Amino acid sequence: MSTLNHLGYPSYPPTEIFTEDGLINILQLTDLHLSLDDIKSQDIKNNDNKITCKLNNYQTFIACLQQALNEPIRCDLILLTGDLVNEVKPEIYELIYLTLVETGIPFACIAGNHDVTDELGADLPFHNRTFIAHKPHSMLLSRHCIQLNNWKLLLIDSSVQGEIYGTVGNKNLNWLSQNLANSHYPVIIAMHHHVLPMDSAWIDKHITKDKAAFWHLINSKPSVKAVVSGHVHQFFEQQTEGIKVYTTPSTCYQFKPKSDDFAIEDHEVPGYRWLTLTKQNIMSSWVKRLSV
Ligand SMILES: [Fe+2]
Ligand SMILES: [Fe+2]
Repeated sequence: MSTLNHLGYPSYPPTEIFTEDGLINILQLTDLHLSLDDIKSQDIKNNDNKITCKLNNYQTFIACLQQALNEPIRCDLILLTGDLVNEVKPEIYELIYLTLVETGIPFACIAGNHDVTDELGADLPFHNRTFIAHKPHSMLLSRHCIQLNNWKLLLIDSSVQGEIYGTVGNKNLNWLSQNLANSHYPVIIAMHHHVLPMDSAWIDKHITKDKAAFWHLINSKPSVKAVVSGHVHQFFEQQTEGIKVYTTPSTCYQFKPKSDDFAIEDHEVPGYRWLTLTKQNIMSSWVKRLSV
């Protein structure tokens, strides 16, 4: 974090959050896909103060954040699960970082494929596109644990530089194994790529490739209560062997569920997820959609 620390924000990332009432409320925002053009054009209202054009990805990110923080629920942690940008530019990360710092709420960010892979020729057929590999920005965490009262949140980086699919990889598997072996606490794992098929051929080509090794590890660890991801730009919840698997709508556009070819779900609006953890080891989670 040397680049950002000199700006005066030394407390990132958080390592522990304790609350007096024993509740932890996590706000998950995912797949922001911000570009430089988005953050330059912010004028969306006419003289009557009505929204006059389609919101861009920066505006829907801000709208999701503001709507969530205006809800009658205290937010203890903001979790960003990857694809923060649509083009790898440090100034976009710095804007996101400053926006989150301004909330005064602890936050944590991990990488998605778009944070480590620039995709050139998005208007061309997939096999004609060029993929440029990048190192993840310093605000993106690779293996990080946050103690949340009597819960643990384990964040891992599933991105692969120059690729769209994800992997957990041996380093993350070993780190998870060590953390889970020593844990007497219920655990949530956060990562960008999905770990269960979505029944959608094109997005399932870009799944976590070594998901079998990941499931083999966590199925043997009863402390794991949930895996929360982004990447698929849609709502999904399933329980497998006592582990809840969540994916969450993007703060921008949504993919059409169960489509074998790439398709945008035009009528669906952006959203975000809440996860609530109690001291009695009870977890609940729900998705909210943006009201615009
Ligand atoms: Fe995405
Ligand atoms: Fe992604």
